[in-house]
Amino acid sequence: MVTIREAKENDAKALIVLRGKLFKETTFLLLEPDEYNPTEESEANFIRIFSRADNSSIFLALNSDSKIVGFMGVAGGITNRTKHRATVFLGVLSEYWGQGIGKQLFDQLFIWLPQSCLSRVELTTAVNNERAFSLYKKMGFQVEGIKKANISVAGELIDEYQMSHVITDN
Ligand SMILES: CC(C)(COP(=O)(O)OP(=O)(O)OC[C@H]1O[C@@H](n2cnc3c(N)ncnc32)[C@H](O)[C@@H]1OP(=O)(O)O)[C@@H](O)C(=O)NCCC(=O)NCCS
Repeated sequence: MVTIREAKENDAKALIVLRGKLFKETTFLLLEPDEYNPTEESEANFIRIFSRADNSSIFLALNSDSKIVGFMGVAGGITNRTKHRATVFLGVLSEYWGQGIGKQLFDQLFIWLPQSCLSRVELTTAVNNERAFSLYKKMGFQVEGIKKANISVAGELIDEYQMSHVITDN
């Protein structure tokens, strides 16, 4: 069990450490380790932009020692025609997998959604990312299709599921 809260600008340093580790641990995220070179200022700016928008957020998962062990980003659209939708991305440190932290991050997303202006959240996941796919289905995301050869990992082109959750009440 972890505590989930929204990121604040002074989490920048800890978020850099977390994301740096995640990009080294997994090939299922968008960046290769060498492509992630933030400064504390750029990371604080990243947090600031997400926390000020009413269709974006960054949630952090903290263990009992207040160490950040996972995060979820919700990146809302920036035009009138896309601001009702957001792309979700997340990562949990591998030593904490399978403890329900991914689920807790989605639970927090669903608590926050009604106070946002979002009607749709979407994500993509590699077809071989069985853990993520099983979590997303469990959290109510539906497969909309397969994006062929959508991600390139060590020269291999991998298909991704396009998935979404549409909030009809908003
Ligand atoms: C995907 C990720 C966020 C899931 O986090 P997590 O904290 O392990 O998630 P949870 O423990 O809440 O749930 C994982 C679910 O996958 C299931 N699962 C575990 N191992 C699995 C496996 N090998 N194959 C299929 N499903 C598996 C679990 O059973 C669990 O479902 P359950 O609670 O119904 O049993 C995490 O594994 C991660 O950060 N992976 C690397 C980065 C990544 O893939 N990000 C997503 C990019 S799209």
